Amino acid sequence: MDDCTLPVMNTGLRGVDIASSKICDVQGKKGKLIYRGFLIQDLAQKANFEEICFLLLYERLPKKDELKDFEQSLKQKRQVPENVFSFLKTLPIDMNPMDVLQMATPLLIQNDTNIGKSGVENTLYSAENLIAGMATITAAWGRIRNNKEVIEPNNDLNHAANFLYMLNGEIPDDETAHFFDTGLVLHAEHSFNASTFTARQVASTRAHIYAAISAAIGSLSGALHGGANVRVMKMLKEIGSVDKIDNYINNILSSGGLIMGLGHAVYQTDDPRALILAPMSKRMGQIANQPIWYELSRALEKKGKAAFKAKKQREIFCNVDFYSASLFYAMGIETDLFSPLFAISRVSGWAAHVIEEQFAMAAPKPSLYRPGAEYVGDYCGPDECVYTDLDER
Ligand SMILES: CC(C)(COP(=O)(O)OP(=O)(O)OC[C@H]1O[C@@H](n2cnc3c(N)ncnc32)[C@H](O)[C@@H]1OP(=O)(O)O)[C@@H](O)C(=O)NCCC(=O)NCCS
Repeated sequence: MDDCTLPVMNTGLRGVDIASSKICDVQGKKGKLIYRGFLIQDLAQKANFEEICFLLLYERLPKKDELKDFEQSLKQKRQVPENVFSFLKTLPIDMNPMDVLQMATPLLIQNDTNIGKSGVENTLYSAENLIAGMATITAAWGRIRNNKEVIEPNNDLNHAANFLYMLNGEIPDDETAHFFDTGLVLHAEHSFNASTFTARQVASTRAHIYAAISAAIGSLSGALHGGANVRVMKMLKEIGSVDKIDNYINNILSSGGLIMGLGHAVYQTDDPRALILAPMSKRMGQIANQPIWYELSRALEKKGKAAFKAKKQREIFCNVDFYSASLFYAMGIETDLFSPLFAISRVSGWAAHVIEEQFAMAAPKPSLYRPGAEYVGDYCGPDECVYTDLDER
């Protein structure tokens, strides 16, 4: 091939607006995250996950009786077809939970008599089926791979508490359930990130919502996307005690490595979700009698920010993964379930985007995503290459 220099291109679509959306606004400079016009701080303090799902899907806050009906409707969809569990039981127990979730999610179609029918009401029904069913699948896999019996949903509990119950077999205390619920609220939506773009792109082909959501789960499973808080936890365990932080940071920064949980592609100040998660992580550490993970995180944040500034002459800030790691870990959740937790929350945002992609007429968007690419491959001189038969090469 000729020696060529690749043209400078805008890789990864950074800074390129490719559609209009009414779902979420992320204001990186101001550190603001807004779902359908509402600040995340208000929502995290006042709304539960079910209310957030309603807001994202139906474009407004529910009235009291609407929320009650919506919660009831989700409860009715918690029970997944029995063959989902039989399928999970055939899988090797060391399979990555994100791969399991991606494979099992389309099986929820069996509970959906509306599949293939057009109309926003049908897709909303499917969205609820996915929100309820993916939580059941995740909890069931958490048990099956540990050789434990699957736990039936408990319809006296809300979505968050029921998930922890189905995972652990015990009804969580109110504070733990509340923190988990807030964790779901904080992860529900974040505009056009990689997995949401994946969902929208699949939806733009007019594939059904189950195809879009399982593709989004695949996108989220990548190490650069959903897996960062797993790596935050690994880092905290490697460090082990506050007196080892300086050494750890020096080694990381001098070798060009990353302090996980710091930095963000959009936020240029602290991620508002990290500011909400930090005190929850602290309190959860006290409840679980494991204060070490929060203490380590706090000290690492302070020292990591200072060392980064000294080295790069610019600031770095915490992202959502920095304190969610210690929060979920103190709840006793296995680290490789952190990404599925992200998915069982983000499915609400993905679903809202699928609906906007397929049904919102007002929002300008491509009818089918089909970006171009500049060809930098071979030619033979000024013309196309001449095909030589196999025997003559
Ligand atoms: C999230 C992330 C990809 C954002 O990247 P970005 O804003 O595009 O920042 P850049 O990649 O332009 O980084 C700018 C510089 O800071 C460095 N940097 C960014 N985040 C860093 C971190 N957490 N630790 C150490 N150095 C970091 C980069 O290596 C780069 O250095 P260089 O100029 O010498 O190449 C990046 O901060 C990161 O990888 N963080 C750690 C992983 C993580 O927590 N991911 C979850 C994101 S929600």
